[in-house]
Amino acid sequence: MNQNPARQLAEKRAFLKDHVRQEVDFSRTAQHRGLPAPPLQKPCPPETVRLPLPDGAAALARLGSMSVGEAIRRRESVRGYTSAALSLDELAALLWATQGVREVLSPSCALRTVPSAGARHAFETYLAVSRVAGLPPGLYRYLPFDGQLAQLAVDSRIGSKAALACLGQQFVAAAAVTFFWTALPARMEWRYGLAAHKVIALDAGHVCQNLYLACTALAAGTCAIAAYDQDACDRLLGVDGGEEFTIYAAPVGKC
Ligand SMILES: Cc1cc2nc3c(=O)[nH]c(=O)nc-3n(C[C@H](O)[C@H](O)[C@H](O)COP(=O)(O)O)c2cc1C
Repeated sequence: MNQNPARQLAEKRAFLKDHVRQEVDFSRTAQHRGLPAPPLQKPCPPETVRLPLPDGAAALARLGSMSVGEAIRRRESVRGYTSAALSLDELAALLWATQGVREVLSPSCALRTVPSAGARHAFETYLAVSRVAGLPPGLYRYLPFDGQLAQLAVDSRIGSKAALACLGQQFVAAAAVTFFWTALPARMEWRYGLAAHKVIALDAGHVCQNLYLACTALAAGTCAIAAYDQDACDRLLGVDGGEEFTIYAAPVGKC
């Protein structure tokens, strides 16, 4: 069924411009109805191996001596990486810069290193690790409230699988690690109802920008990726594609 292209464009434009305040009945949101907020972090399956991470804030302070101004000036998309591994300190610093917890305000609200509409932080971070010192290659999930990684799968071919899921963009296969962010819309919908979806997309940009800046400060490089196969990424990460789905990706490697 082919829709009129002009109408399709109009629908997409509406996503971009509407919904944030005017048309949403906030009296119907889950928060307003007194329902509990969804958990701030996805639970870790009990049989999963948990690996402690170095303190990301301390690691970034120790490793990154570049000024913010210089990092902003030098930031660029990097699609060529050396074969060097990232250290665990470097990975912890990048995770902290992108989704680290700054302050827990209550069981249902925490502030992080990036802003988020209503401090809802509707993302989880998955890592396709190929070369990080001390970590077997495979799939991991960041547990920001525990300072740990959940090891979801050991897989020596994770880099090429990530590249395939990113529509064959080969520089992904050469990365030391690829960050995949998933959205869990219920976290944002709890507060904003139908206004949630635009701000989730806006929030994703902050996360990736912090990755760019932290990479620049650590002599590493990254490149935002929105051209990916939705189903293939969701399968790779083991998420259901409904309650949780891939929203953004970014390979990282040393330059
Ligand atoms: C939302 C978004 C999606 C992007 N998707 C891709 C992508 O799938 N593949 C790619 O090679 N670059 C991608 N890029 C990187 C852009 O091509 C890059 O930012 C642009 O060319 C400007 O270059 P600069 O980042 O070095 O300033 C994306 C950037 C953004 C912000």
